[in-house]
Formats: sequence, C-alpha cells, structure tokens
Amino acid sequence: MAQSIQVNLQSLMTQALTVTIVAATTACGGALPPPTTADARAASVRWPGTSVEQLQSGRRAYLEQCGKCHSLKSETAVPKEVWEETVNRMRTKNGAKLTDEEVADIARYLFAISSR
Ligand code: HEC
Repeated sequence: MAQSIQVNLQSLMTQALTVTIVAATTACGGALPPPTTADARAASVRWPGTSVEQLQSGRRAYLEQCGKCHSLKSETAVPKEVWEETVNRMRTKNGAKLTDEEVADIARYLFAISSR
C-alpha cells in the first residue's frame, strides 16, 4: 500500500517535471520562428503590404518586451484574431511600456506565425 502510494507520487512528480520542461521549451524565445515571406503574406491578409522586415521588428520587440512580467507566451496562447487586442491590453491595462509601433509590429508577428 505504502509502496504503491510512493510509486504513484513518483510518477506524478515525473509528469509534473515533464509538463514544466515542455512549458519552458515552448515559452522559450528560440522556439518562435524567424518570419518568412509566407508569414508576410499571411499578415497581409489582415495588414495589406506587411513586409518580412516588419515581422522581424515584431519578433525583436516581442523578445525584448514580452517576457518582462511573465514568461514569453507562445503564439498559440490566444487565438490569432485576438493577438492585437491582447497586446493592446498589455499596454492599456497591465502597464507594459510599448510604443504604438511596437504594439502593431508584435501583433502582426504573432498573428502571422500563428497562421502557419
Ligand atoms: C507590465 C507587465 C506585462 C508585460 C510587459 C506584458 N504582459 Fe502579458 N500579462 C500581464 C498580466 C498582468 C497578465 C494577466 C492579466 C491579463 O490577462 O491581462 C498578462 C497576461 C498575458 C497573456 C494571457 C492572456 C490571456 O487572455 O490568456 C498573454 C497571452 C500575454 N500576457 C501576452 C503578452 C505579450 C505578447 C506581451 C508583449 C507585448 C506581454 N504579454 C507583455 C502583464 C504583462
């Protein structure tokens, strides 16, 4: 009895560790891919004429600004249509110090890569 509880506890801890490792890996900035021309096309559906360079600025700003209060969120954290208002909310409600340009670039980048 005591032994089986110990085994269960151990497997639970292993599971918890696995979840932590997976979360840490997906939250890692390195997991967020550099933008491609296909991403620029995807973003252009919503923001016509979006360039790869703009998406690169968005990725840079994202890596610099979005891990300050919590871990970097993955592009799948919210539905792609909701990224713009989420990024805006970080500034208006949560106090993230972002320029208009950074908000726009980050929203485009996250929208684009979550369209993949
Ligand atoms: C000044 C601190 C701060 C910064 C900087 C910040 N956040 Fe947040 N973020 C919060 C707080 C507080 C919450 C929880 C409350 C909420 O959801 O609004 C949160 C929650 C979130 C959530 C979960 C929201 C949901 O609906 O599930 C996402 C996704 C997110 N942040 C993305 C970002 C992104 C992207 C950036 C960069 C533009 C960013 N955050 C920068 C404070 C911050």
